[in-house]
Amino acid sequence: MQINLGLRLQRVADFVPETTCIADIGSDHGYLAAWLLLTGRVQHTIAGELNRDPAERARLTACAAGLEEKMLVREGAGLSVLQPGEVDTVVIAGMGGATIVQILESNPSVLPDLRRLVLQPNIGGAQVRHWLSEHGWAIIDEALVAENSIIYEIIVAEPGEMQQLTALQAEIGPMLLDRKPEHFSARVQAAIDARQYVVAQLVRSTNAAVASKREQLMQQISDLESLIE
Ligand SMILES: C[S@@+](CC[C@H](N)C(=O)[O-])C[C@H]1O[C@@H](n2cnc3c(N)ncnc32)[C@H](O)[C@@H]1O
Repeated sequence: MQINLGLRLQRVADFVPETTCIADIGSDHGYLAAWLLLTGRVQHTIAGELNRDPAERARLTACAAGLEEKMLVREGAGLSVLQPGEVDTVVIAGMGGATIVQILESNPSVLPDLRRLVLQPNIGGAQVRHWLSEHGWAIIDEALVAENSIIYEIIVAEPGEMQQLTALQAEIGPMLLDRKPEHFSARVQAAIDARQYVVAQLVRSTNAAVASKREQLMQQISDLESLIE
């Protein structure tokens, strides 16, 4: 069986180290777990799924690839499907930042044995980065990848201390800010566009609190614009 992960999941896979056992939480079809096994990058995987249908899809993938022994599919919420020490790397991809944080908080007993987190929030990256910095994780790498005209961010963290993040660092990513990789301008422009949309909604209000919010957003837009001038 050949698996084409697509650009986004392939970039996520690039950050999974050669290791014994990883978990992909919210695996859906289970392609990532299967690809990591088929390429020999990892020896065992646990695909965690909250929902029955995607869990069934992951089981079908494992079966079609002849990986039933190596790719365990477990149904349950977040990290609750894992026992402490079972895996050293956890991947959580293709969800909002709030859900990723919820998953990371779902079973704290698993966290001390983890050596790496590979996280790919579709939105809400700031929430993920704040959680990492407040829970003893250091961001060791970040990447941007474009697929179907959407820019996705990937955050790689390992246990360690990280300097407190500014609001801008949390939103755009401290390493992405330093490196300004391909797609950086498009990523920042998307953050500007989102704020300009809100500003346009607030423009008619004379309420003082709304006016202050608008000023705050305008300042953020100006800070973001200065990154890509
Ligand atoms: C959009 S899919 C992403 C699939 C895959 N990770 C990817 O990046 O292509 C999100 C998957 O996460 C699952 N999910 C959502 N919340 C979850 C949770 N708390 N625990 C486990 N799985 C969850 C959903 O059922 C769904 O299959």
